[in-house]
Amino acid sequence: MHKRKRVLFLGLLALTLSCSKQKPAEASEDTTKVQSLNPNGDSELAIIMRTMHEHGKILRKELLSDTTITPYPETIKNINQATPTDGMIDDHKIFESFSALYLSKLDSIYLDGVNRKLQFNRMVSSCVTCHQEYCYGPIPAIKKLYLPE
Ligand code: HEC
Repeated sequence: MHKRKRVLFLGLLALTLSCSKQKPAEASEDTTKVQSLNPNGDSELAIIMRTMHEHGKILRKELLSDTTITPYPETIKNINQATPTDGMIDDHKIFESFSALYLSKLDSIYLDGVNRKLQFNRMVSSCVTCHQEYCYGPIPAIKKLYLPE
């Protein structure tokens, strides 16, 4: 009984964060296929993405309480070298143009004299923009990072 609930819960968790190249409405028809593409969700890139998400949540809290912001983990700079899940990225040059935009927005948050909350929201937008190209699943979770204007 308990075990079944746990399996269901883990299944839902995997679904909410796993990638889908289609828009969510289309993807829901064939969730088993999406999951088997990425059974553990553990490519190098996926692991860095989770670090980016966790760091985003920390920054969000710090910006909301106007405290000093934590530097970002250096591993984030490796997104272009990290191996993605098979079949996720067909043209790596295109991926790199999205990642360049994201990395520049990330650095902008740390510049002197900028409106950090605004720069943070721009960074979140650059996450969403890349995800619209490659990976719809996490978009709702990413959008939760947006700070109120
Ligand atoms: C340059 C494109 C790009 C940018 C920018 C980007 N992502 Fe991703 N993200 C991806 C791709 C591609 C995957 C799928 C990785 C894989 O399965 O190998 C992914 C996967 C994820 C996942 C799922 C990881 C898992 O456990 O499978 C999360 C969560 C995520 N991204 C959050 C974020 C957040 C938060 C940001 C911004 C701070 C962000 N992403 C920025 C392309 C991007």
